[in-house]
Amino acid sequence: TSTNTESWGSRVGLILAMAGNAVGLGNFLRFPVQAVQNGGGAFIIPYLVCFLLMGIPLLWIEWAMGRFGGKFGNHSTPFILDTMDKRKFWKYIGVFGIFTNIAVAAYYCYLESWTMSYVYHSLVGTFRGMDQNQVAAFFVNYVDITTTTTGLPFEAIIFFIFCVILNTFILSRGLSGGVEIASKIGMPLLIIFGMFLAYKGITLQSGKEGAVYGGSVGLNFLWTPQFDSLWNPKVWLAAAGQIFFTLSVGMGTIQCYASYVSRKEDIALNAMSAGWMNEFVEVVLGSAILIPISVGYLGIDKVVELTSSGGLGLGFRTMPYLFQQWGVFLGAFAGVAFFGLLFFAGITSSLAMGTPWMGFLQDEFKWSREKAAFSFGVIVLILGTPTVLFFNEGVFDEYDYWAGTVSLVVFALAETILFAWIFGMKKGWKEITDGADIKVPDFYKFVIKWVTPFLLLFVFIGSLIGPAGGDWGAAFSSLGSGNGWLLDNGSIIAQIMNKGLKEQIAAATDPAVIA
Ligand code: PHE
Ligand code: NA
Repeated sequence: TSTNTESWGSRVGLILAMAGNAVGLGNFLRFPVQAVQNGGGAFIIPYLVCFLLMGIPLLWIEWAMGRFGGKFGNHSTPFILDTMDKRKFWKYIGVFGIFTNIAVAAYYCYLESWTMSYVYHSLVGTFRGMDQNQVAAFFVNYVDITTTTTGLPFEAIIFFIFCVILNTFILSRGLSGGVEIASKIGMPLLIIFGMFLAYKGITLQSGKEGAVYGGSVGLNFLWTPQFDSLWNPKVWLAAAGQIFFTLSVGMGTIQCYASYVSRKEDIALNAMSAGWMNEFVEVVLGSAILIPISVGYLGIDKVVELTSSGGLGLGFRTMPYLFQQWGVFLGAFAGVAFFGLLFFAGITSSLAMGTPWMGFLQDEFKWSREKAAFSFGVIVLILGTPTVLFFNEGVFDEYDYWAGTVSLVVFALAETILFAWIFGMKKGWKEITDGADIKVPDFYKFVIKWVTPFLLLFVFIGSLIGPAGGDWGAAFSSLGSGNGWLLDNGSIIAQIMNKGLKEQIAAATDPAVIA
């Protein structure tokens, strides 16, 4: 039996913490960029289908597994999975659900620390009067810790350490005394800041405030459906990947949070509240800020080009410059709102990543939560250091790829098989619907058993063998004509086999290339 006596203080607190876990940098930086890279309006239908057939089922599965494990005093996935089947094998699979969190936390906290620094610099007016190249150069210098030309010496390191200490402190206060309070403060502020920026994005007019195109150009680009893309597996894989990342499924985090829900309490409706709140923030706010504002100033072609190496560049190199076009006061406020929103999104997610490791130590080794939180901070500092020191060598992207992408799909596939096929849908359905405050549609009994696992399998195989340029037709005809399968540089197999390609990718995304 466990001496771990953590629990949630209130239902609102639980939902906000779970929503805070899901709502993260992914909603504001990753989603819009994925949408742009996959053809704008082409992305949105596969995305919504993946939400309904993979996202929602996985939310219910993970909440149900968590509350179930919690009944036996287990709060980390090795032991939660262990309670669901007698084979020892599952315990080891469950280790993913701790490991992934720690590995993602290491680079995620680094990113989070940038947002703190950018709030500070927006506030004190560092970007005022800078041109686009200077703002871009600021970022390049910031992540290059060998130069000290930004405002403060060794800023990137100092903010990273400060950010880890803040996370550790909040975690040491426990769920109701720390995480819940952070979510109750952070989430409402995030929504207010997001509404303000979305309003500015939507109403940005061509010819005003220095904008050439206006916000509606970007919005139309994102929201004009293109049905032919439905036949492109690359778009489907990207959509599935985004659903995973944004909902935080396949991580072990949701199971951990849910394991502190008491056995009689609802999970069916709670899971939907947190999940749909994430979708609101992503689809409504997430698509009304970064793209409309940047397209409004720079046009579609330029923004497509800028996003080809990811969303960070656009967010940190371009936005602080564009905000200056709104004048001294509004410009500073927009910077604080944008990076403040990213900070709250980030910290409520990194706190979630700390809890599985803490639950594990509290349950198994009877550690106090202060000691457990402290050990998490130390590990994140150690694992995060390579991402800080060697950011420009692509270490960051390696972490994101293996821990933040591949491992999520593998773990989700395994847990879905365990839940639907080994634990069994009969018991599984009972766990989902016990104490439910909504009627869960019976349709989902079928989906969880037959649709979700096969979709996951499809996503996994697709990412193993993804063809060059996402062109499946060309890959098949090459195979047919005896020239073999054209493997994409980014596919898992290519990543394992050919590290040389990885270096080429790193060269192509050289941060020295300005704006
Ligand atoms: N869902 C978060 C985001 O959108 C990322 C995250 C992944 C958070 C896993 C916690 C656990 O940014
Ligand atoms: Na999210």
